[in-house]
Amino acid sequence: MHNDVEKTLLSEAQIQARIEELAGEMNALYSDDDAPMLVCILKGAFLFLADLVRHLEFRHEVNFMVVSSYGSSTKSSGIVRILLDLESNIKGRHVMIVEDIVDTGHTLDYILRNLSTRHPASLRVATLLNKPSRREVQVPVDFVGFEIPDEFVMGYGLDYAEFYRNLRYIGVLKPEVYQR
Ligand code: PRP
Repeated sequence: MHNDVEKTLLSEAQIQARIEELAGEMNALYSDDDAPMLVCILKGAFLFLADLVRHLEFRHEVNFMVVSSYGSSTKSSGIVRILLDLESNIKGRHVMIVEDIVDTGHTLDYILRNLSTRHPASLRVATLLNKPSRREVQVPVDFVGFEIPDEFVMGYGLDYAEFYRNLRYIGVLKPEVYQR
């Protein structure tokens, strides 16, 4: 384990097993005719998307948005910027947002409100991690991988100061690292 990691919160095996379960639920919900567009919110969700789609059995597209919130690296400010928008029109399309984590809910709230104005046929949300204890704005989430406590997590797409996204597990950062 890396020096900055206090403990493993979710192992590689736990993550992969849960993703397979989520994909099973999605396979039961969507058909080839729906051909939903999966919208991966970069950067954090890139590994989740990559592992998820390999279990999906219905026809689908993948697309990407880069969003960023102003503020420090450990705290969301509630002000969200779109740095890269979708390349295609979602009007009349079934859309599923793929996120790594919902924390205060501000990012997802902004994305949902923004995409709603484009009139998709349906708009759903899948997040690998959910921190309900931190919620400041209520947001609907259709698929949740894991509900987690309020700890600073990194790995499997999630960063600390842009590092550690490559970890195969999700770990808790040692508090002394971000209090430095
Ligand atoms: C993270 C995460 C979510 C958002 C959740 O993104 O990927 O998009 O924060 O926080 P919230 O619910 O409090 O709004 P971040 O801005 O850190 O960008 P990244 O995915 O590129 O790391």
